[in-house]
Parts: sequence; structure tokens; C-alpha cells
Amino acid sequence: MGEVKRPGGWAQRVSEIEPFRVVEVLTRAHQLAAAGRDVLHLAAGEPDFSTAEPIIEAGRAALARGETHYSPAAGIPELRQAVSRYYATEYGLQVDPGRIMVTPGASGALLLVAALLMNPGDEMLMTDPGYPCNRHFLRLVEGRGRLVPVSADSRYQLDGELVARHWGERTIGAMVASPANPTGTALSREELSGLSQAVSARGGYLVVDEIYHGLGYDAPTPSVLEVDPDAFVINSFSKYFGMTGWRLGWLVAPAAAVAEMEKLAQNLFISMSTMAQYAALAAFEPATREILDQRRDIFRRRRDYLLPAVQELGFRVPCKPQGAFYLYADASRFTDDSQAFCLQLLEEHGVALTPGVDFGRFEAGRHLRFSYTTGMERLELAVDRLSRVLG
Ligand SMILES: Cc1ncc(COP(=O)(O)O)c(C=O)c1O
Repeated sequence: MGEVKRPGGWAQRVSEIEPFRVVEVLTRAHQLAAAGRDVLHLAAGEPDFSTAEPIIEAGRAALARGETHYSPAAGIPELRQAVSRYYATEYGLQVDPGRIMVTPGASGALLLVAALLMNPGDEMLMTDPGYPCNRHFLRLVEGRGRLVPVSADSRYQLDGELVARHWGERTIGAMVASPANPTGTALSREELSGLSQAVSARGGYLVVDEIYHGLGYDAPTPSVLEVDPDAFVINSFSKYFGMTGWRLGWLVAPAAAVAEMEKLAQNLFISMSTMAQYAALAAFEPATREILDQRRDIFRRRRDYLLPAVQELGFRVPCKPQGAFYLYADASRFTDDSQAFCLQLLEEHGVALTPGVDFGRFEAGRHLRFSYTTGMERLELAVDRLSRVLG
């Protein structure tokens, strides 16, 4: 039953797609918790808040109305229009709803972009450290992520100089996230513009993952669309909107790309969850936005507590994260094996963190990611436990 029948095993691509290492930490965390240990979770990549009540209520109402069928592959028109209005109010941008496609999470949008752009052997520049699934999406469509080691020197982001240095014969573009996972650093309007110029001077495509927009703590995060209307933009209802489990995101594509992407979406997904799309309409209502903004302020307070506390413990966080809910910490004072270190912290002290090896290779063994997706009291407890062991 289920044995690999082909002599060489499963398809080659599968062996090149890596699992999340944090899963090992999380599995152990659950075992420890089941055995009665109090485990502090600073590893999750999703808000600890449940979806805001008005969104849940709109989802219930959609179900009660019988919205249980397929919807158009690019999303229900009302939601595409609502996202378009969001660009007008948040960024002062006019984005034609016809350029907006609703997708199954940012993940679905990233897969569509990869499928549209990559020929076999093509490469896309991306940061190391960075969100790991991106290079796996590229691999799935027989392309490749060309990982660019980034450090505090460029605030862990790509810039024009790095693009020039790493652009190869098969490079067709660059993919960045702002604010980024795992570092939380964001690109300013000028930096986005510099990046866009460097990429378009080489005839490439720029893909910007704006999934952590709305969770910017010091100043509003600019959209790349403010400086480059031809960029591909990824976004999601998962993070600021707090709807991870509903699996809904969106994509803004250049007008010329939409028909082809819609064709891909029809084949790959047929439709997103229809109920979730009607629920998401309520996410833009002022009363819901008020709840979401309050939550953003809570995340800001957590960052403002955790950043100095973690530095005090002896971790180096050279770039203040401007958004998302992560701190990317240099733990070289304590370890050069982040995976083993995370397991030890969990096993002996009940604190779950994400090892840097989940986000790439560059100095990954010396880094950890702290997520502040748990309440302030739990964060304080985690810092307290860590201070006893790292002293
Ligand atoms: C940078 C980034 N992009 C995309 C995703 C995927 O999000 P989703 O598919 O839930 O919208 C994540 C999730 O953690 C992320 O951190």
C-alpha cells in the first residue's frame, strides 16, 4: 500500500522542497503540553486573536443564505470592488477591480504568480532569510529561487545594488516582502522605487508580498503600487484581517496578465471558498476596522516590550522591525545550531521559538525568530524563563 513504484522514487521536485523545521518544535511543544507542561508559544505565524465577530457574523449570514456554491475564479465582484476601494482609502490609489484577483490566501496568489512568470530553469531573486514557501512555489513550476544573503546592512531587504550584483542569465525578476517575514523590516517608498528601477532596467518582474500591511507600527507602510503600477502585489486576509483559517488573499496584477492568471486560477482552484469571500466583505466595515486597528496597537505594544527585553537577554536585533509580528534575533552568543537550541529551550524551559534554519541558509544556525503572537503576560513569562537560563 502506497509504496513508491518508480525506481527513482517520487518526482525529483518533492525531494527539493523542504519541510518547516519549526514543525518539529511545535510537535514536541504539543506533546509537552499534553503531558501537562506549561509551554509558552512564541513560534506561531498567525494572530492569536480569533476572527473579529462582524466577519464571523457575515460568514454565518452567507451560509444561512445558501452561499455554498462555486464563485468566479477571480473572486466575487463585490469583494474585488471592496479591495479596490481599500487601495483608494488606504493608499490614495485607483486600482481597477478588474486587476484584482481574490485567491486562496497569499499562498494561492504566490503560486499563480510563479506559474505565470517562470519557465523551467528561470530564477527569481529573493532574500535569505525570507519566507521559505516562495522558493518552493518556484521549484514546483520548475523555476528556482536565487537566494541573496541579506544582513542588517540592507535591513535584510533587497536593494538596487544587490539586484545588480546577483542578477544572472536566467534571472527574470525579484520577489520581496514588506514588511518581511522573519525580520519585520519594511521598504520605504524610495527603496521600493530603487528596487523597481533596478528590476525593470533588466527587463524583469517585481513581485512584492504585502501580506503584513496593516501591521505597520511606526508609519504607514507604502505599497509598491505607489511607485510601480506594473508590479505584482500579493496580499491576504490572514494577518491584519485575522482570517488565517478562512484561506483568502488577493493579488493585484498588471492588466495584461489578468486573463492568463484567471485561466490558471480556473484550472488550479476553480474558486475560493464562497462563504469566506462574503465574510471578508465585512472586514472592510468601519466597525471591524476599529477592532483590527485595536489589535494592531496591541501587537505594537508587544513589540515595544519584547524588542528591548530580548536585546537585554543577549540577543542582537540590529534592525528594529517596523511591522509583522516577528523579531529576528542573532543568537550567536548562545549557539550556532538554532534548531538544537530551539529544541533545548523548549524541552528544558518550555519556550517555543522558530529556528533560523526555517528561513534560509545564510547565518541561519545563529538566528531565531520570536513571534509576539501571544499575550503580554505570556511574553513576560517567556522572557523571565529565558533570563534564568541565559542569565
Ligand atoms: C511573507 C508571507 N507570505 C505569505 C504567507 C502565506 O499566507 P496565507 O496563505 O495565509 O495568506 C505567509 C504566512 O505566514 C507569509 O509570512
